[in-house]
Amino acid sequence: MTALRERVWWKEAVVYQVYPRSFNDSNGDGIGDLPGITARLDYLKALGVDVIWLSPHFDSPNADNGYDIRDYRKVMAEFGTMADFDRLLAGMKERGLRLIIDLVVNHTSDEHRWFVESRKSRDNPFRDFYIWRDGRNGSPPNNYTSFFGGSAWHKDETTGQYYLHYFAGKQPDLNWENTRVRAEIFDLMRFWLDKGVAGFRMDVIPFISKPAGLPDLEPAALAHPEFIYANGPRVHEYLQAMHREVLAPYDAMSVGEAFGVGFDAAPLFTDIRRGELSMIFHFDIVRLDRDNWRKTNWTLPQLKATYTRIDRAAGEFGWNTSFLCNHDNPRTVSHFGDDDPAWRVRSAKALATLTLTQRATPFLYQGDELGMTNYPFERIDQYDDVEVKGLWRTLVESGKVPAAELLAHLRQTSRDHARTPMQWSNAAHGGFTTGTPWLAVNPDHAEINAASQVGDANSIYHHHRRLIELRRQVPALVHGDYQDVDPEHPQVFVYTRVLDDQRYAVLINFGRTMVDYSLPQGVRIAASVLDNGAGVTAAAGQTRLSLAPWQATIYRLQ
Ligand code: NOJ
Ligand code: CA
Repeated sequence: MTALRERVWWKEAVVYQVYPRSFNDSNGDGIGDLPGITARLDYLKALGVDVIWLSPHFDSPNADNGYDIRDYRKVMAEFGTMADFDRLLAGMKERGLRLIIDLVVNHTSDEHRWFVESRKSRDNPFRDFYIWRDGRNGSPPNNYTSFFGGSAWHKDETTGQYYLHYFAGKQPDLNWENTRVRAEIFDLMRFWLDKGVAGFRMDVIPFISKPAGLPDLEPAALAHPEFIYANGPRVHEYLQAMHREVLAPYDAMSVGEAFGVGFDAAPLFTDIRRGELSMIFHFDIVRLDRDNWRKTNWTLPQLKATYTRIDRAAGEFGWNTSFLCNHDNPRTVSHFGDDDPAWRVRSAKALATLTLTQRATPFLYQGDELGMTNYPFERIDQYDDVEVKGLWRTLVESGKVPAAELLAHLRQTSRDHARTPMQWSNAAHGGFTTGTPWLAVNPDHAEINAASQVGDANSIYHHHRRLIELRRQVPALVHGDYQDVDPEHPQVFVYTRVLDDQRYAVLINFGRTMVDYSLPQGVRIAASVLDNGAGVTAAAGQTRLSLAPWQATIYRLQ
């Protein structure tokens, strides 16, 4: 059990994700920027987080909001300068905060110097930095599909060959088989580590090794190509080299976006004895109610079973993340809680309780600490996202899906819900900018904003702060064994966290109705430790509880 309880800093940290474009605009151009983040460090420090994950801040033509990088060693002009980055990092250091940055190295922008060279001719020295193939009888080399719609191959007129892009056409995939590519990437990682960043969130990192020979996807795999893309033959070899040559010497933290990695494969990435990644993001929870672009339904027993499977997949030697939102997902409270004004505050606090009491490193997404909600999108022109545009083109414009149907799903699933600007105050545009925001601010900012919550001890913000503080004080909530003690109950989520003689239970009522609940055998309450203020907490020894709607209470057990 030593690995399980090893007190490495990144297991005990709470991470806060900043999507820089939407966090805080310091100069009125409508785009969030690095000085804007620096100006809010005290807010984040007061919340109690330890680490900031900064979504891409690199030079980019923004085909995918920075996930298409033109220059890995330059700051995006709209976000500021390298001096602004250094000031941000210095400000974080002063406050004891760590920074992890986004490593997007499955692909670059097509405007990256390597690709500009690569596409020039078949014998260009950079040709082999990317994946070029001849077509097959006038069609793409195989049937791979892009996540943003259509074929994953683009025919480049200059040389008549096709290049591979798992995402947009402006995001050509790098060829990791090429040792020069790997050396360049390891080098750029060192560049940022030398500046003092503490590690990396690694974008679609399991996709870096391409299937041998690039055969067609079997028909069954076409709906979910990520499970093929994530299982290339050399991915673990590459990650072990990266760990050995770059991450380990700097004691850097790494978190892999493990899209397409099943529960069985998870330990290959995170088992500490293998020397690959510190932890991964599983998508089985945020995609529980998704079938590609379609929104489906979820039940609480399904959600609970997924938490258990994720915990077991990490096992004794691995580690997980705990998150309900990021920049690719709808808002936590709208997705898993209840954003009706009557239940929003309570349910957001209940979900914070869930997120911050897992055997995993919690990742909070900006604005979730305020219970920010989905945006009331109605028309296609209100969206910005390249994914939405791809879906519109391939589904609606081709006549396959009626516009109203896709719009109904997007209203619940779109990535833009998370990308609307932070709501700092009830001022115009939520205080995010003095200019015109690049994406509209949610009209509910008049009510939901940081200024009002920082000043209210009962706010969602302060509930997050208390949970973070408690997690810091109670090692069982970080390292303790996780056990769902009532997996079948349709409305109550009850689990225990046990470390030696420290025993805790978390009880959450996932609904608008009150529940009369009898505690499972062996769960004996000693005292309530933290509660979301929804109802009355149980006293020591009490076995029958009346759980108020969306009540979430952490108990110390006997
Ligand atoms: C995953 C990122 O989170 C997402 O925003 C991006 O579009 C794709 N990877 C491609 O980089
Ligand atoms: Ca700005």
